[in-house]
Amino acid sequence: MIYKLEVRHVKKTFATRQEGEIVTALQDVSLSIRDGEFVSIVGPSGCGKSTLLDMIAGLSVPDDGDILLNGTSIVSEKGHVSYMPQKDSLFPWRTILDNVIVPLQVQGVRKKEARQEALALLPDFGLEQFADHYPFMLSGGMRQRASFLRTYLQKKDVMLLDEPFASLDALTRMKMQEWLMKMWQTFQHAVLLVTHSVDEALLLSDRIYVFSPRPGRVLTEISVDIPRPRAARTSADPSFTSLKKELLHWLEDGISHEAPVRKKQIP
Ligand SMILES: Nc1ncnc2c1ncn2[C@@H]1O[C@H](COP(=O)(O)OP(=O)(O)OP(=O)(O)O)[C@@H](O)[C@H]1O
Ligand SMILES: [Mg+2]
Repeated sequence: MIYKLEVRHVKKTFATRQEGEIVTALQDVSLSIRDGEFVSIVGPSGCGKSTLLDMIAGLSVPDDGDILLNGTSIVSEKGHVSYMPQKDSLFPWRTILDNVIVPLQVQGVRKKEARQEALALLPDFGLEQFADHYPFMLSGGMRQRASFLRTYLQKKDVMLLDEPFASLDALTRMKMQEWLMKMWQTFQHAVLLVTHSVDEALLLSDRIYVFSPRPGRVLTEISVDIPRPRAARTSADPSFTSLKKELLHWLEDGISHEAPVRKKQIP
């Protein structure tokens, strides 16, 4: 079977500042996403989640393994997927409209046409009244929606989202999750979401990969067979509660096997 996106036996190490030491961030990670599927990665801090998304986006290169889009390797190639990195920030000196058109301008679209295209999308992203506002004038949730629109305008049918809701308060976060579900159902992109929140992963995903502490490995893959549409109240369903228990069990279990920094083998 050809997947939309496939990560095969990927390994990634980093040299640390101490001479001769390496950190293995990811160890033999394999995962796959079907067209239009919503998949999440849940795992402890430092297990290599952002490192993996960076590699899928072509911003860094695996030491080992392969990354395929529609069956073709995209290792070290940029521009195949839409990516909202963990520390995505809007340019403070640009209006919301001029922030979200950046990916269009990168694609060579002229400013006037780019603005027209983005303006037509602002209502879908709940930003129609904020085109001329600067980022500091918006709430956290609005800024996140603007970042989403900017990511969406990268126009790829795979979206990588790295903890997009981490900085939001609980209520805004819940609203944004419901909003993302609606957007996903409308646009039907394949999504790979990184989150620390078990509830968020269960609410949004078709499948969840649970990662071990560093070096990150896939501990298990969980299918979320909870019918859609889902909403915040879905978290009270018995099927949700039992999957949550299973997920937490894997996360807690994984934590007892933390691996130390390894000494580099100098030949
Ligand atoms: N450029 C780099 N140079 C050296 N080490 C790095 C680099 N990038 C990441 N690392 C290390 O790789 C490991 C994985 O980092 P990564 O940011 O991928 O974790 P994460 O799972 O995204 O964590 P979090 O949930 O806190 O965002 C960490 O130990 C980190 O210090
Ligand atoms: Mg991260």
